[in-house]
Amino acid sequence: MNPKILIVFFLLLNLTSISIQNPNPKSKIPKSIPSPAHVELAGYGFPVGLLPATTVLSHNINHTSGDFSVKLGGACKITLPPDNYVATYSDTITGKIVKGKIAELNGIRVRAFFQWWSITGIRSSGDDVVFEVGMITAKYPSKNFDDSPACEGQHSAF
Ligand SMILES: *[C@@H]1O[C@H](CO)[C@@H](O)[C@H](O)[C@H]1NC(C)=O
Repeated sequence: MNPKILIVFFLLLNLTSISIQNPNPKSKIPKSIPSPAHVELAGYGFPVGLLPATTVLSHNINHTSGDFSVKLGGACKITLPPDNYVATYSDTITGKIVKGKIAELNGIRVRAFFQWWSITGIRSSGDDVVFEVGMITAKYPSKNFDDSPACEGQHSAF
């Protein structure tokens, strides 16, 4: 065998063993288990990230009318991608949910243009999520909400 090839071979072998000995330490975080409320949200065609990764004390839903309430362990503040709007979740969120549509929403507010706005509805439309603030709507790709954000100043509870 050509000695140059042999050297390259040993170099490669060495690099491979280094990468085996040093697995990415960041990949050690265990995969989280979503709460039943997060699972239910997904069942209605919404990304789970619309609900923060916080303690859900209880959730109730009337499957006939769609009326729901979600009780969180406490109020929660998150930063929404991609525009980094600050949003707050009250400890109780209520509304009316059907597949792909949340209406009469109460308890989620977002800060934009130096004001707090109540998000009154959320729709799932193809690959997008549409937020409604009264008559105003803002559309974002659903994939921005694939992961539940942790409440700021708290540790992820699930
Ligand atoms: C659920 O909603 C339906 C339709 O509005 C209503 O008739 C029923 O009483 C509700 N059930 C409960 C448990 O509130």
